[in-house]
Amino acid sequence: MVEIIENIKKEFSAVSPQSAEDLEKFRIRFLSRNGLLNDLFEQFKAVAPDQKKQFGQTINQLKNQLEQQYQNWKEALENQKSEEANATWDFTLPVLEEQIGSRHPLTIVREQILQIFERMGFNISEGPEIEDDWHNFTALNFPLNHPAREMQDTFFIEKNPEIVLRTHTSSVQIRVMEKQRPPIRTISPGRVYRNEAISARAHCMFHQIEGLYVNEEVSFADLKQTLYHFVREMFGQDVQIRFRPSFFPFTEPSAEIDISCLICKGSGCNVCKQSGWVEIGGAGMLDPNVLSNCHIDPEEYSGFAFGMGIERITMLKYQVRDLRLYTENDLRFLRQFKGL
Ligand code: DAH
Repeated sequence: MVEIIENIKKEFSAVSPQSAEDLEKFRIRFLSRNGLLNDLFEQFKAVAPDQKKQFGQTINQLKNQLEQQYQNWKEALENQKSEEANATWDFTLPVLEEQIGSRHPLTIVREQILQIFERMGFNISEGPEIEDDWHNFTALNFPLNHPAREMQDTFFIEKNPEIVLRTHTSSVQIRVMEKQRPPIRTISPGRVYRNEAISARAHCMFHQIEGLYVNEEVSFADLKQTLYHFVREMFGQDVQIRFRPSFFPFTEPSAEIDISCLICKGSGCNVCKQSGWVEIGGAGMLDPNVLSNCHIDPEEYSGFAFGMGIERITMLKYQVRDLRLYTENDLRFLRQFKGL
């Protein structure tokens, strides 16, 4: 009996099934009805009663060991099989097109504008979107009763003291001039907010770029030349520019900047309302009061400032007809700017 058990153990220790067939052979040889284990139990019947206990334990241990090993091998082979199945590649399948994102048109145009002014020596400055009355209005020389301060235009966050969502990036001019001494040459991009109904031509949130140059003897000619250079870089060498007299509380004299219509090249169309010109922003020479408010002596220094809407410039450059497209996240619109 001892010898039979030892032989089974010896044979068992030599097997190591590598495939499902090997494993099946093992099962038949050791565990099946006609297998070695069952033979052993048959022979066990003939064992002398006083030895039954000892052999019984040994045989049971062997049985458990064989069955456990059989299970382990079976699982290992199944895992191996599913790994192989996963690793099966079908090289004939068509390729799925990879969807790569693109920059937003407003980001593209903002970067273009910033780069043009950086090449002219302007640095970039930013200010907060939540502003106090001083930086958004008072320091910019807005009279107390100016309509822009009223509810219909401005989103008020707090009434006393007045805290607002900035209505323009001109507030950054004040923040820069309060901290820096001339010469100052800076450009300030950012979001602005106005209480307007959303339509194809107006939005309650949009983007502006503010420009500021303060130095000794800055003149209106400097302003004109700077903006002339900008529009030619932005829209091409053929574009015309004109300055129309206007009014802003913080500049004197003030002007509105028009460029020749890029769509009809000045002959008249519905984008320029048949005039041949489209407005891109406002500009002017810094009002002496604004300089004084920032403790810069208007006798010693002068400066110019300008402000432009990024949505507007993008509209003209890429012929976008509806402002709402910028915020709707419609991929059919956004994908047109891929690669820019
Ligand atoms: N802040 C003006 C606006 O939002 C635009 C503007 C006009 C800015 C004239 C300027 C400027 O700096 O000089 O409509």
